[in-house]
Amino acid sequence: MIEVKNLTKKFGDFVAVDNISFKVKKGEIFGLLGPNGAGKSTIIRMLSTLARPTSGTATVGNYDITKNDGEVRSLIGLVSEKMILYDLLTAKENLWFFGKLFNLSKEVLLRRIDELLDLVQLSEWKNSQVGTFSTGMRQRMNVIRALLNMPEVLFLDEPTLGLDPQSSVEIREFIRKLNRENKTTILLTTHMMVEADMICDRIAIIDCGKIVALDTSSNLKKSISGVDTTMLKIGIKNLTQDLIKSMRTLKCVESVTQENSTYIKVHAHGEEAFDAIIDSIRTKKGKINSIENLQPTLEDVFLHITGHEVRDKADQKIPLERHRGFMPKNRVR
Ligand SMILES: Nc1ncnc2c1ncn2[C@@H]1O[C@H](COP(=O)(O)OP(=O)(O)OP(=O)(O)O)[C@@H](O)[C@H]1O
Ligand SMILES: [Mg+2]
Repeated sequence: MIEVKNLTKKFGDFVAVDNISFKVKKGEIFGLLGPNGAGKSTIIRMLSTLARPTSGTATVGNYDITKNDGEVRSLIGLVSEKMILYDLLTAKENLWFFGKLFNLSKEVLLRRIDELLDLVQLSEWKNSQVGTFSTGMRQRMNVIRALLNMPEVLFLDEPTLGLDPQSSVEIREFIRKLNRENKTTILLTTHMMVEADMICDRIAIIDCGKIVALDTSSNLKKSISGVDTTMLKIGIKNLTQDLIKSMRTLKCVESVTQENSTYIKVHAHGEEAFDAIIDSIRTKKGKINSIENLQPTLEDVFLHITGHEVRDKADQKIPLERHRGFMPKNRVR
């Protein structure tokens, strides 16, 4: 349903999307998972014909995104990062306005508005101004706004961003339902590992504009959990930075992540890894409270492949303004 070949997007000298290729099958939920600034929204913007690629090609439903942009638009629904709703209009008026942009007839549109509001349990608020809605209600509106034309392909850019756990679960259940019942092909972006894990059939992990891994969640996890791999969560009563530093120097240790003042997560390889880790704690006079053998998570896969955690980039390397499109020209990567 979607075929992307060597797609690249540059802003000046800066390469936001770097020669990526992937295919999404009809009826699949495909996730683009990556930290802030990885290039996820730029990919969605290109595929939904809002931005032109610098090079490379892509088709959506066999239509070329640059040559047949009109056809592509009639096939797709887009839930972008920003909520596109008018606060002073009611739920019904908002949907009416956007439905009219799709040239839907009055009859079809009125029926669809009722069905969609019902689907996300907003029928009661049909005649209330959207400005009075909670964030969760607004996001549900934002999602159904993109479904008015019954799209075969739905692009969802961070569909649960800023929602509380309850609303996030509701949106995820809705996405699954839509996919199951209407066979809608869904391409979603997220920086939440758990979200990608829960709803995506396959996941492309994106870092610095490149796809660094692409597979099902379980295969991605398997790829780092060979017989040779050890993943431990260790509670140490008197945890120090010195102890962590010394553990990182062990040949068998690939990464040590500090979770809080007591717990560390250690990813290591080799038959001797377990003994070497315990020995290094004892050498630094660490008092072990607990040891748990962990199954790898998608976060571990990301860390393993990129050498840094997802939040590393989001919190430290890329200041907030850059996420909003205010990109300094001399970006250092
Ligand atoms: N119009 C633009 N002009 C200049 N730089 C841009 C523009 N749009 C995006 N960028 C830059 O391209 C990079 C990728 O941005 P993009 O918004 O695609 O990332 P993202 O993965 O969606 O991040 P987030 O998780 O924060 O939404 C960022 O460094 C961003 O600042
Ligand atoms: Mg984005």
